[in-house]
Amino acid sequence: MSTSRASTVGSKWVKTKVLLRNKELRKFVPETRIYTQANLHSMINRYKMVYIKPMNGSFGQGVIRVEKRDKYVFQSGEVVKTFQTFLDLFASLNKSKLNRTYLVQQGIHLLTHQNRIFDTRIMVQKSPKKTWEATGWIGRVAHPHKIVTNFHNSGKPLPLGLLLNPYLKNKKKEAYIQSLRLLGYQIAKHYQRYYPGFKEIGVDIGIDKALKPWVLEVNTAPDPFIFNQLADKKMFFKVLRYTRANGRFLPIKRK
Ligand SMILES: Nc1ncnc2c1ncn2[C@@H]1O[C@H](COP(=O)(O)OP(=O)(O)O)[C@@H](O)[C@H]1O
Ligand SMILES: [Mg+2]
Repeated sequence: MSTSRASTVGSKWVKTKVLLRNKELRKFVPETRIYTQANLHSMINRYKMVYIKPMNGSFGQGVIRVEKRDKYVFQSGEVVKTFQTFLDLFASLNKSKLNRTYLVQQGIHLLTHQNRIFDTRIMVQKSPKKTWEATGWIGRVAHPHKIVTNFHNSGKPLPLGLLLNPYLKNKKKEAYIQSLRLLGYQIAKHYQRYYPGFKEIGVDIGIDKALKPWVLEVNTAPDPFIFNQLADKKMFFKVLRYTRANGRFLPIKRK
């Protein structure tokens, strides 16, 4: 599984299995399986809410949320459908899915901001001194009618501290953000054992109503420009400086 190039890191499934190898990090990973009828059936019965996502997707594209209430409800993009039986749901899912491999993951009931779900992106980079540093942290608020928070899927990036305000105050809030940064750092350190070549990761962390963080996805070619969405550019400038030092988005003048 070891490789020296970040671009060959592979699918969400491989990246999830790498996380599961670490017993400290495992606690933060929602249960994840390959999408099959049997796996969907047992996961939806256990968790009542699951996310189905393409194994090689990005930008929240093709992500579907399924809930079991008195009926089965599925949502993809802004389209919501309801079904009386599991088999009706499954048949319909197979029609709306594309012909590729999907994962089914325990759904996390994310915190909200003005009734819109949000999650967080933690950027962890090799510094010019070659040590790992959590350089960026930001909240991403979903479009009011969507179930994904991605910036490239009409999500709105906002300061994480602002979004956490109703849940945590002052020192507790600062300490909580620190703990998310530490989690990102620990993931980078662990990943490095399997992928020695890569220099940056962007961790998507969902926070549930009990404020437990959950690692939804690890991105191995994270976009630094999301941090440019914040009015305060300090974080963005540092992220970009490190990105360039790491050989991505190179400066115009080079020797
Ligand atoms: N298990 C989950 N529980 C709650 N929300 C999720 C879950 N998985 C994904 N999401 C939402 O969907 C978004 C996209 O999923 P993600 O796994 O990050 O795939 P992508 O590569 O498309 O970004 C996440 O940022 C989050 O908002
Ligand atoms: Mg993501």
